[in-house]
Amino acid sequence: MKILAIETSCDDTGIAILEVTEEKKSASSVIKVKFKILGNEVSSQIDIHKEYGGVFPALAKREHIKNLPLVLAKVLKASKIKEENLQKEIDAIAITTGPGLEPALWTGIVFAKELNEKYKIPIVPVNHMEGHIFSVFPKDKKTFIVENKKENFPMLSLLVSGGHTELVFMKDWMKYKKIGSTRDDAAGEAFDKVARMLGLPYPGGPEISRLADIKRSKIAGIERKYVVPGSLTQDDGPSTSKKPSKVLLCADGNNILSEIPTILLPRPMIYSKDYDFSFSGLKTAVLYLIRDLKLQNPNILDDENIKQKIAREFEDATVETLVHKTVKAIKEYKIKTLIVGGGVSANKYLQEQMKEKIKENKLKTKIHFPSKALTGDNALMIAIAGYFQAKNKKFVKNSKSLKLKADGNMTL
Ligand code: KG4
Ligand code: ZN
Repeated sequence: MKILAIETSCDDTGIAILEVTEEKKSASSVIKVKFKILGNEVSSQIDIHKEYGGVFPALAKREHIKNLPLVLAKVLKASKIKEENLQKEIDAIAITTGPGLEPALWTGIVFAKELNEKYKIPIVPVNHMEGHIFSVFPKDKKTFIVENKKENFPMLSLLVSGGHTELVFMKDWMKYKKIGSTRDDAAGEAFDKVARMLGLPYPGGPEISRLADIKRSKIAGIERKYVVPGSLTQDDGPSTSKKPSKVLLCADGNNILSEIPTILLPRPMIYSKDYDFSFSGLKTAVLYLIRDLKLQNPNILDDENIKQKIAREFEDATVETLVHKTVKAIKEYKIKTLIVGGGVSANKYLQEQMKEKIKENKLKTKIHFPSKALTGDNALMIAIAGYFQAKNKKFVKNSKSLKLKADGNMTL
């Protein structure tokens, strides 16, 4: 069967076409699904949103409407499918219906409905986060396989994006139990906000990461403490903006412009008993830190060294929190496979630390990250999730069905 998928949940317009064949291994219940990528296109709106320092929903909507027909034409060309043959060639249209920005989601839904009406192709609604889970399978190759081997379960997904930070337990494909999530800001959102405070452009994740890496390589050889103990950690619930004193700034009071030896930020909720996260207090800690530094020298952020230090410490704090909770969940739930997906999964330090800590804890868990191109939003991951949803007969045959609506807060 062939699936055409559409993704418009945020600021990327994505369309992909996948060919799927399924093999059932004889005398077992193992199903082996072979996917072939016929076409996969993403049109990014980053340059347009950059000047607003974040995604501007009305602009995202306008751009999706403009881009969808263009992206479809490109994908059809790559897939060698003529638009007039869509009805004959495509068996289902997978469409992201949430979570995300509702005005953006609606553009994709309306486009899918138009194709449904014109070519009578059934629609399959897909949860964007489910897409991020499946994003780890295509490894920069035209074909890839997804199997439901028992020995790979239970799985755990750490989903980290601009809108979400959650740990999802999976007994099998499509069986989700959320065991933890952020109580306030998402990890990607915190990266974006801290980048903005440092005068860096949107999206902030790659920018912070670039600065942090420079700093890390400069101090190579000096052992970093993995978790800052005691007063710098907050284990009693989400940190709030009322706790700026938790920020330790060891500045040289006499000569403000001299090297600031240590900047330490909190690791919010790192020792809490649950699997929840909180990044709003960490973000506020950076805000107060910059405010205090500016009191000493209003031009302090012109100093690249200071910016690198803040970026490095912020990235350390975020990554340590994510890795610590994930490793704890792997142990408690006896996880065989870990999937990390979403924009923040592109973070090199997160990837390194996750692998290192799993090894250090002598865990045999297999770890999957998406290929670089699939860490961000794309329709390929929606096509894979759409296939599994279609198998579960989640079709909406008639586009007038009330079931098909954008849900900005949809959960797994
Ligand atoms: O999944 P995604 O593309 O869109 C949403 O569904 O939100 O995630 C975007 C987020 C942004 O907040 C961006 O700053 C963050 O992913 N991001 C990163 C990195 N690359 C992108 N965060 C940390 N390190 C990175 N290298
Ligand atoms: Zn996403």
